[in-house]
Amino acid sequence: MPETLLDKNRKWAAERVAADPDYFRRLSELQAPRFLWIGCSDSRVPANVIAGLEPGEVFVHRNVANLVHHSDLNLLSVLEYAVEVLGVAHVIVCGHYGCGGVKAAMEGCAHGVVDHWLQPIRDIADAHAAALEAHTEEAARLSALCELSIREQVATLSRTPIIRNAWARGDPLAIHGWVYSLSDGLLRDLDCRLSAAHPHRPPPVS
Ligand code: CO
Repeated sequence: MPETLLDKNRKWAAERVAADPDYFRRLSELQAPRFLWIGCSDSRVPANVIAGLEPGEVFVHRNVANLVHHSDLNLLSVLEYAVEVLGVAHVIVCGHYGCGGVKAAMEGCAHGVVDHWLQPIRDIADAHAAALEAHTEEAARLSALCELSIREQVATLSRTPIIRNAWARGDPLAIHGWVYSLSDGLLRDLDCRLSAAHPHRPPPVS
């Protein structure tokens, strides 16, 4: 029942105040997160929880399969605010293995509107068809596509005018691609970091 959430909330707020009477006053006066997290909507990958961050420490945008669409006003508004007003130092694109969105994109059948949303993943799969087919196990192919998509979203993000302008004015902002494993709860850096000093991803190793 949703009422249990209200009960949990009252308990949580009381515990916070008991531990630190100034907690909510401080948080309500200032928001200064150092991180923008772009993650999947999947209920098992909550940014604050898996990264061990407190309220106020991470600005969050989540959508199905953590995609960066150039025309997504929601994501672009979040990105602009995070970069230009909050001045975050790091943007983290975090996907996860076993992503239902990536899996749906790989399947041939229709799922509805979400198939339009997932088009970039099908494009990535087509562009890397040979490398993906080298994996005989479907699970391994799915994991490889999850990683490829995260790298691609990092690159797509780096080409937005918001990021280009930030780098042009000397903002030390960096973009990172991470993947989360549902099976062990660990985050892994995909080493595809981009910044003003290294704004382009290296060519793929063949
Ligand atoms: Co997902």
